[in-house]
Amino acid sequence: MKIVSIVGARPQFIKLAPLSVELRKLGIEEIILHTGQHYDDNMNEIFFKELEIPEPNYNLGVGSGSHGEQTGRMLIEIEKILIKEKPDLVIVYGDTNSTLAGALAAKKLHMFLAHVEAGLRSFNKKMPEEINRIVADHLSDILFCPTETAVENLRKEGILKGVYLVGDIMFDALEHFVKISQRKSRILEILNLKPKDYYLLTIHRAENTDNIERLKSILSALGESRKNIIFPIHPRTKNRIKELGLENYLSSNIKTIEPVGYLDMLELERNAYAILTDSGGVQKEAFWLKVPCITLRDETEWIETVRYGWNTLVGADKNKILEALDNIKKGEDINFEKNYAAPKICEILLREFKTGGK
Ligand code: UD1
Ligand code: UDP
Repeated sequence: MKIVSIVGARPQFIKLAPLSVELRKLGIEEIILHTGQHYDDNMNEIFFKELEIPEPNYNLGVGSGSHGEQTGRMLIEIEKILIKEKPDLVIVYGDTNSTLAGALAAKKLHMFLAHVEAGLRSFNKKMPEEINRIVADHLSDILFCPTETAVENLRKEGILKGVYLVGDIMFDALEHFVKISQRKSRILEILNLKPKDYYLLTIHRAENTDNIERLKSILSALGESRKNIIFPIHPRTKNRIKELGLENYLSSNIKTIEPVGYLDMLELERNAYAILTDSGGVQKEAFWLKVPCITLRDETEWIETVRYGWNTLVGADKNKILEALDNIKKGEDINFEKNYAAPKICEILLREFKTGGK
């Protein structure tokens, strides 16, 4: 059985890592196709090194661009490689433009397609990720869902066949690497931080970075925080702050640093007093690490994190952000089952493949 895994952006490398290990254990041939969507060392290479992901067989070097340009370039190049490699199965991950291009290229070639992290919905089609997920889900033959909510979302859209609830592959990654990060990461010493004495911040969603009013509102609220805020800044956000002339909104309590690798990130998350983010992955990691999270979005795909009291949605509203900072509280003490997604995904793939799939 020959598989092509298509990835391109930071969170996809993290989703790929546990599955890649499991595929290798079973002796399944995996070709890694990297679109090159993320390319800075600290958005890309560091993850392959730290997570011990094999070197990609192909890197398309597509880089940045408008949605049409970026997705179009990926589509042209992915198609050529899929024709050459003739895999038995193509796997796409998450909801980026690399996911969309991979799914389109594979299905137009009538290839068998699996989507890891299927069924998520924000019900906001202004988010590029929502469009990418809807298309990938409707094209996929096998859909690996992280939550019951995701299965239910698919059911409501009439997708019933090939749907499997396998749990969250990012949980597999966290469980494995959090022990390693505790041993290896020196980030707290390097940044001179005391555990539970700082907030951790990430912002990168287009709805926040490309809207000057939202960005101003978030940064000015955070400027009033009494605790220091550690801000590993996504290149998109760094560029937008500069282009929009908002550098003076980064007050002295907001310490921007370059994006960090996964091990340092887990250590920063685990030791934060609370996390502020618009990231999907970071919301979930806060939940699993039992660190209160304030989400700088108007909706979330990860409603379980809110339901169990670990996540508060505040959007970009200054008053709501300040109120949430004044009311940091823990949620329910859940005992997360160590029920890993990657072995289940492999078992299902082998079974589906033997029986000829859908
Ligand atoms: C992408 C995904 C988003 C995901 C995020 C993870 C899409 C539409 N969006 O958003 O779903 O949550 O990745 O981080 O696919 N840049 C660099 N260096 C890099 C990468 C990006 O400087 O290595 C800058 C460029 O200016 C680029 C901008 O960041 O234009 C945005 O990058 P892009 O890959 O288009 O989208 P992200 O915002 O990273
Ligand atoms: N992450 C990281 N370093 C950082 C910021 C994030 O390793 O500086 C990790 C984070 O722990 C999570 C993943 O990247 O596992 C989330 O990616 P991102 O926020 O870029 O995308 P999203 O999950 O929103 O699609």
